[in-house]
Amino acid sequence: MNSHIMMSEGQMYTPPGGPPRVSPPDPAIYAAMGADAIVQMIEDFYTELERSWLRPMFPHDMVAASRKSAAFFIGLLGGPPLYHQLYGNPAMRARHMPFPIDEAARQEWLRCFDVVLADAPTRYHFPPEHLPGFRAFLEAFSRWMVNTAT
Ligand code: HEM
Repeated sequence: MNSHIMMSEGQMYTPPGGPPRVSPPDPAIYAAMGADAIVQMIEDFYTELERSWLRPMFPHDMVAASRKSAAFFIGLLGGPPLYHQLYGNPAMRARHMPFPIDEAARQEWLRCFDVVLADAPTRYHFPPEHLPGFRAFLEAFSRWMVNTAT
């Protein structure tokens, strides 16, 4: 163990078990929704985040922030790897390190996503049979973003 790294990490929390071993969402989701509906869904998710107590963590321009996130979700749901092409390796846990994310923040983030997913089949043509798998992915992957103990 490198003592310099240990010191600089301070109170950083690492979830037990390491990176989640969860199946990625089914690529049939992108095939059914297309890019525009995913962009709209993520914009609406950022509107929920904007109304939530997580708001201070996010930049002023939530629409711009949502576009960057949408590039990631388009690839995740089975579309082209736009995030990788535009911004490089997603390395999501590392990119979330500047923000103190504890279990309460994770629960609030998931709640915001749930609001949007409740209407997703009608609003964005999200295939309803793939909602449970996507929810399971978010539930597991979001644990890996937690970097602060409560
Ligand atoms: C666990 C709770 C989470 C919280 C509180 C959280 C919070 C944040 C914050 C504060 C940012 C930076 C916003 C910005 O500066 O533009 C961000 C960016 C992002 N988050 Fe999360 N996040 C969480 C989980 C997740 C999960 C599970 C995913 C993916 C499934 C995800 C995907 C992204 C993406 C793609 C970005 C954009 C990265 C970039 O700016 O390049 N987040 N998140």
